[in-house]
Amino acid sequence: MCGIIAGIINTNIADSLIEGLERLEYRGYDSSGLAVIKSDQSIIHRKSVGKVSELKAIVKASKTEGQIGIAHTRWATHGKPSTLNAHPHLSHDCFAIVHNGIIENYETLKEELIAEGYEFSSETDSEVLVHLIHQAMQSSSSLFDAVQSITPKLEGSYALAAIDKSTPDTLVVARRGSPLIIGLSDDQIFAASDVIAFNETIEQCIYLEDEDVAAISKNLLTVMNNGEIIPRPINSISGDENGASKGSYTHFMHKEIHEQPQAIQRLIDAYLTDKGLFSNTFPVADQLAISRIKNITIVACGSSYHAALIAKLWFEAYAEIQCQVEIASEFRYRKSIVPKRSLFIAISQSGETADTLAALGHAKKLGYKKSLAICNSNHSSLVRETDLCLLTHAGKEISVASTKAFTSQLTVFLMLAIYFAQKRKLTTKNDTMMDALKQLPDQLSDALTLEPLIEKTVTPLAKAKNCLFIGRGEMHSIAMEGALKLKEISYIHAEAYAAGELKHGPIALIDDKLPVIVIAPNNDVLSKIQSNINEVKARGGQVYIFSDSDDFDQANSLIPIAPAPSLISPIIYSIPLQLLAYHIALLKGNDIDQPRNLAKSVTVE
Ligand code: F6R
Repeated sequence: MCGIIAGIINTNIADSLIEGLERLEYRGYDSSGLAVIKSDQSIIHRKSVGKVSELKAIVKASKTEGQIGIAHTRWATHGKPSTLNAHPHLSHDCFAIVHNGIIENYETLKEELIAEGYEFSSETDSEVLVHLIHQAMQSSSSLFDAVQSITPKLEGSYALAAIDKSTPDTLVVARRGSPLIIGLSDDQIFAASDVIAFNETIEQCIYLEDEDVAAISKNLLTVMNNGEIIPRPINSISGDENGASKGSYTHFMHKEIHEQPQAIQRLIDAYLTDKGLFSNTFPVADQLAISRIKNITIVACGSSYHAALIAKLWFEAYAEIQCQVEIASEFRYRKSIVPKRSLFIAISQSGETADTLAALGHAKKLGYKKSLAICNSNHSSLVRETDLCLLTHAGKEISVASTKAFTSQLTVFLMLAIYFAQKRKLTTKNDTMMDALKQLPDQLSDALTLEPLIEKTVTPLAKAKNCLFIGRGEMHSIAMEGALKLKEISYIHAEAYAAGELKHGPIALIDDKLPVIVIAPNNDVLSKIQSNINEVKARGGQVYIFSDSDDFDQANSLIPIAPAPSLISPIIYSIPLQLLAYHIALLKGNDIDQPRNLAKSVTVE
């Protein structure tokens, strides 16, 4: 979603801002803009709808020079993508702001400002911020004071960066609910919504907390929180946090699909030591409570939700712990019952998904006592707001469509299910389970070797308008994830069904134009899914089967998956479905890493 980069440097900042925006493109956006304070102390701004490359061309063609500036990629929420709605927003040509998040009480604030004579030029909620700053400056001694005085009036979430043409050496930033990070080097200082926006010279950063307001100048950084100066810790930026590159791959998604064996190995190494699973992970004080858990509630969105659906089956089958899984946006608005001795798990790749964070807040109010985050971002709001955390260690995921983060989530869940089973002395097959877990990286590498066959086999699918995915047990959720991947990047309408549900309705759709993707590992429900395949074939459906069994009619398209222990097979079968979606989208010539309308991290409701 929206991205901010702002900074102060000794040379022209416009180029650095554009580079920062390019690094933020992966988050998803529909327009962009920047503002700088020129040497004559006027604010100049440039905006464009569409790709950052268009803004770059405008900036290049015009004289956009200054040492301090703010820039933004916008993902439309209030008002369509247009140059008027794109940020920065200005008030009286004196102040400019960029904003991420949603100001929920903007209509009331706007009415008050209009009554005072302020004129609005956009449909956005964000524009109120800059007029509020202008208004506050009538009684404030500095932009820093003005921003501090307006934040208590705001409802909702914000990360904002503001400049004042009369103080061209100071940038003011503030956050509540939306991430904002300050990046530091000897001669540059930036603020951004993601570490990835910083250039390679920025090696240290400060994570701002909710309600922080910071004044940034070349030599001084002051962070205030509710009227007090707060010294926030300085962190080193690790290599995999900034400067993500595609290497030899054309798309981040393709690279991230191929990174999965290493990502999963890293994860296993992090949590499985000589002393066993999660031996040093949970604080001693929590270990007893964890071992006594009787119930688990998991909330998530999108792919993370699909991972949670599989976790439910594992928790119940291996650890005999009852588990319910809910879509975060539904859970947060529902009155539900808190089971006794329950653990609340919120799972999110980004840790910034608004609905998942709100669901966590709702769970705390309902009375859940212990919460666990499963997350790919160590510095996320989700990690900060939960009692316990398991990082998925997948490395930065840039492609909007999740791949390695999803299989890493599944692997953490699987390890957790085994851990709970061990704690509850339920595993008679501990060695077999550990052995299966350790096989994962090699099995994933094997699955990746199927790429040329998948590429060839799926070619006809690029012409399909609709597609059906079916599976049973865990593979139903893998089918859901496969359908989501296909929708997201190929724009082909895809649905997933539990195979047994076909004849309760969706079979009416089957004809020779509807491809049916079947995920059919050789397990105890294979014969059941074989019957479902026959039902589809009898009605002229085109069937594409992913299986480690060859016990199928030769007329079907079969992608042979190497046999794997059933414990890990949902993780293995994720790979060919990711490759399927990737190659279909490639054939269609789509923007694979930044699919239309989508954002990487959904920070608004
Ligand atoms: C799918 C995808 C989304 C996310 C969803 C939740 O490829 O990426 O469906 O899974 O927006 O995001 P996180 O996991 O960051 O909470």
